[in-house]
Amino acid sequence: MDRIRIVGGQPLHGTIPISGAKNATLPLMIASLLTDQTLILDNVPRLADVVQLQRILGNHGVDIMTSGKRPGDDEYKGQTMHLSATRIVDTTAPYELVSKMRASFWVIAPLVARMGEARVSMPGGCAIGTRPVDLLIMALERLSARIDVDGGYVVARAPDGLKGGEINFPKVTVSGTHTAVMAASLASGTTVIENAAREPEIADVADCLNKMGARISGAGTSRIVIEGVAKLHGAWHKVVPDRIETGTYAMAVAMSGGDVVLDGARPELLQSALDVLALAGAEVSATNQGIRIARNGAGLRPVEITTEPFPGFPTDLQAQLMALMTRAKGTSHITETIFENRFMHVQELARFGARIHLDGETATIEGVDRLKGAPVMATDLRASVSLVIAGLAAEGETMVNRVYHLDRGFERLEDKLARCGADIVRVSS
Ligand code: UD1
Repeated sequence: MDRIRIVGGQPLHGTIPISGAKNATLPLMIASLLTDQTLILDNVPRLADVVQLQRILGNHGVDIMTSGKRPGDDEYKGQTMHLSATRIVDTTAPYELVSKMRASFWVIAPLVARMGEARVSMPGGCAIGTRPVDLLIMALERLSARIDVDGGYVVARAPDGLKGGEINFPKVTVSGTHTAVMAASLASGTTVIENAAREPEIADVADCLNKMGARISGAGTSRIVIEGVAKLHGAWHKVVPDRIETGTYAMAVAMSGGDVVLDGARPELLQSALDVLALAGAEVSATNQGIRIARNGAGLRPVEITTEPFPGFPTDLQAQLMALMTRAKGTSHITETIFENRFMHVQELARFGARIHLDGETATIEGVDRLKGAPVMATDLRASVSLVIAGLAAEGETMVNRVYHLDRGFERLEDKLARCGADIVRVSS
């Protein structure tokens, strides 16, 4: 199993290219199931989750081709992926494949919409709370799908096709909104989604679906209206930049000090996080190329934040911000409202000498003058990168174990940081 070794204390200077968003790429790949024509996705990140989803889609009969190198390509450019679901040969997504990644459950929507049936194993993924799928099921039922649970599988049937309906989510859910939008695109009649998730990845997928012939309006707001169509066709779409990767590197720079341009990043995708960084004392500015983030010497100020659905502060940056606040001059409070049990990084951060106290859904972080490098264990995707951020500022050596969590969601993390002067290497064993 690979590990990452970091010797802390180096400021970061240079440019970090931002990859396409994992959380847009996965549903975009799944959207290829909605048509028998080819969907071409550009700016696809090289991630373990993408490879895993290729396997799952391949099992349904999707042919997937990633283009080779072109003149002028550099290794940091995203991949171009052609996905052709000309014939769906299997409407079952088996446990062995789905249990590794929660988002693969989402194939249920296009499969039942196009084929009239889907049999999908209950999902796995990061161990952050219970993460049920009741709202996804509710959305499909509102579109007239019949749902049964059988031997750990959710079976959805709509032999006469899905029918448009009203879906009012009692809680904002990204997965529920993706499911509803994809299913409603091929349902007959009109669907209205109330209290929809407003995350930029929802708008990105809707944008792609509209290029494929769907009729979706309001994506990116809390009310989405979809006029169902009988068929979708092929399209070309470039994946939106990854706002979580952007925020992660912004926090790494705020932690280590230095001056870095996050190439290709879009500030409007993570304004709440950039505002928090500015409050903490980092210099943040928008440039033609992306976002510039700098901090020189001055101490960090503590912050009070609560995670919220977009446009609030994202839960996927909570662990990284906590790592940053371990060095603030004063006491910070971070409240997690999206997922229970998303504090597994707390005990690992304590190994660096961080002082964090947990009380229910709120963490109180007392800033310390210095962190000391330590062997630590990655527990989930975003938690693991918070350990890298702590390691960048800690004195001496940090060894991050179980790096496969990082590889699920961060492309060439150690290369990107090393190119800016960090002392970080992957140790393969
Ligand atoms: C997506 C993101 C994940 C991010 C999360 C919140 C992807 C691939 N993953 O996850 O990185 O942390 O949004 O921004 O895009 N819930 C229910 N019932 C359901 C579905 C969800 O109760 O049927 C609850 C969840 O347990 C959670 C909350 O709703 O408490 C939000 O979950 P959701 O927005 O659906 O997160 P994911 O789509 O799984």
